[in-house]
Amino acid sequence: MQFQPILDEIAATIRPHLGLEGRVADYIPALARVPAQQFGIALRTFDGQEAAAGDFATPFSIQSISKVFALTIGMRLMGDGLWERIGREPSGDPFNSLVQLEHEHGVPRNPFINAGAIAVTDRLVSHCEGKAEMLAQLSSIANETIHYNPEVAASEAATGFRNIALANFMKSFGKIDNDVATVLDVYFHHCAIEMNCLQLARATGFLCRDGAHPYLPERQVVTERQARRINALMLTCGTYDAAGEFAYDIGLPCKSGVGGGIVAVVPDQLTLCVWSPALDTTGNSLLGKKALELFVARTGLSVF
Ligand code: DON
Repeated sequence: MQFQPILDEIAATIRPHLGLEGRVADYIPALARVPAQQFGIALRTFDGQEAAAGDFATPFSIQSISKVFALTIGMRLMGDGLWERIGREPSGDPFNSLVQLEHEHGVPRNPFINAGAIAVTDRLVSHCEGKAEMLAQLSSIANETIHYNPEVAASEAATGFRNIALANFMKSFGKIDNDVATVLDVYFHHCAIEMNCLQLARATGFLCRDGAHPYLPERQVVTERQARRINALMLTCGTYDAAGEFAYDIGLPCKSGVGGGIVAVVPDQLTLCVWSPALDTTGNSLLGKKALELFVARTGLSVF
């Protein structure tokens, strides 16, 4: 399939809608300043073909997309031991909700809501140097050096009252081993990584390659079984309380972030990243979701 004309067509269809609907995340002050009228899309196929359109080269804050990479490192370091304190069920609640944690004794529903990612980060802090390991992994799989934005990390730390509450609440149940401030510092830095659409399409490539490294095919980032499971979790939990709608409308494993990015996986075929900063009420990119709907309608690609 020739993807470049398809992505050009999607970018042209989306462009007139930029800035009309949705809202840029404003609960993190450094993100509130990002202009809403931007849209990028990029993909990389199993065999290394690339296509991209719009603002695909503009770096943005990957935010919760980092939760896929934190989970990947956690699964590699701990295998099934990672699941002792983290569930694998959709939450049906907003990504920063506290309510389930009380009923469920401090065990987060899944690794893609904030509480779950903070719990994964705690495990990483116990097993590795969490900040350095993340940049090393991302730089390897994206095939270029990846950085944090320190201003975004500081902005999150200054205003992350809900995350601070979530971490302390889990700590009160004995589910966080390390110092809360240390765990949150690593978590905020992970969220504050900056990448563009093409870098993310490349870096997630192991998820459409049965876990094989996108640039070093003889090396596994995770096992084939682990890659399948990360994809399953993305499909069921990657877009929070909109995961059902995403499965229905798009039918691909997806992971979103409040920076406006969404990555999507077509197993054995390609990885795709869309970005547009204005969000819908569930915290997912409004036009990013629209672009993914156009992509699957135009290509017929789906896991179903
Ligand atoms: O912790 C937070 O709230 C943000 N750093 C990340 C949230 C996020 O991206 C959820 N996504 N839709």
